[in-house]
Amino acid sequence: MPLDDYEALAQLIRDRPLPLMLVDLESLDSNVRRLGAVAKAHGKNLRVASKSIRVPDLIRRVLEVGGEHFRGLMCFSVPEARLLAEHKFDDLLVAYPTVQRSDLDCAAAMVGAGTTVTLMIDCPTHVAMLADYWRDNGPAEQPLRVCIDQDMSWRPGKLHIGAQRSPVRTIDDFTELLDALLERPELRLSGVMGYEAQIAGVGDENPFAPLLNPAKKLIKQQSVKDVARKRRQVSELLVRRGVRLDFFNGGGTGSIRTTAEEDWVTEVTAGSGFLQSHLFDYYASNENQPAMCFALQLTRIPQADRVTCQSGGFIASGSADADKAPVPFLPAGLRPDKVEGFGEVQTPLQVPSDLRGKLQPGAPIFFRPAKAGEIAERFNEYLLIENGEIRGSARTYRGLGHCFY
Ligand SMILES: Cc1ncc(COP(=O)(O)O)c(C=O)c1O
Repeated sequence: MPLDDYEALAQLIRDRPLPLMLVDLESLDSNVRRLGAVAKAHGKNLRVASKSIRVPDLIRRVLEVGGEHFRGLMCFSVPEARLLAEHKFDDLLVAYPTVQRSDLDCAAAMVGAGTTVTLMIDCPTHVAMLADYWRDNGPAEQPLRVCIDQDMSWRPGKLHIGAQRSPVRTIDDFTELLDALLERPELRLSGVMGYEAQIAGVGDENPFAPLLNPAKKLIKQQSVKDVARKRRQVSELLVRRGVRLDFFNGGGTGSIRTTAEEDWVTEVTAGSGFLQSHLFDYYASNENQPAMCFALQLTRIPQADRVTCQSGGFIASGSADADKAPVPFLPAGLRPDKVEGFGEVQTPLQVPSDLRGKLQPGAPIFFRPAKAGEIAERFNEYLLIENGEIRGSARTYRGLGHCFY
């Protein structure tokens, strides 16, 4: 059932305690098929970004519905990867570097138990620290798989447009790191990841900052070529040096179409587009449909043109702009109160004239979160809708008793 009918959704969750989170599995499946088709049409595998879901049962469903070219997970921390390994997922790429002992102990135990885990590196210090650790503590005869994070920011003149992550900016930087890596038999280069945040992570039809949209479109158009050139250079270097990778990863939901076009990329990543949180609506390329929304209880009516809900302050990370708040979803027409915004325990909403007097205390109000994964930190379980009925629930990392960073 598309998540668009207020009365039907309200009926579906009648008498259930609020807040609650709903996921419509048909919408989820159709997003999975749509994104998967883009990857498949270009002969790419699709790696699922677990941080943008954070519910093991839903991650499993995405992999199952996606089919055989959905391969592996992109995790955000080693303890998270361990939980996923316990849930029988494999091929776990931890996409953000770590050197702390507890994480490395955890990775060594996982590799020792037969799980394929790959850790991220972007500097010779990472190489030295991981290799020294693995020499002394890693399972015998099993080098640690690592992936080089290649910076994909666009840097015209003195500008830096993109994420501040990897210092591996030029082909010389890459060569230097590769040389350091190839000297350490404790490590094996398994993959390269180039994530173009300025394309994948920037909505170019953002209604919260419409004046910036033309500039964002321009930046995207220009940097697509730059990103492709950089990734091609690295892939050619690796061929020259006789280094064979298991994967060359790029992209995200917001850039899947352009990333998939590059011949040298073997896999694209996607996460947010499966559940389709509202920030991912604001891309010219978006075709996904909302598959999740949460319900709050309307608790009071301070005046005729306002209603107030309990809870709601589920603000997403990133620059602290208005688009990081949830958006009122159903019934259509409600708007956040500009003065109070989404509150810690109460959220007032402006009521359009056609709805005034129609919403009473106890009514559910539905919202969409800005980001698809982080919202899972607020709920223990998601209720699953299938064929217009609630068919069960799935526990979030939080509901399973975990808190990952
Ligand atoms: C390295 C990396 N790849 C891919 C993604 C894209 O994930 P999503 O599809 O959820 O936007 C992200 C998101 O931040 C990322 O950090």
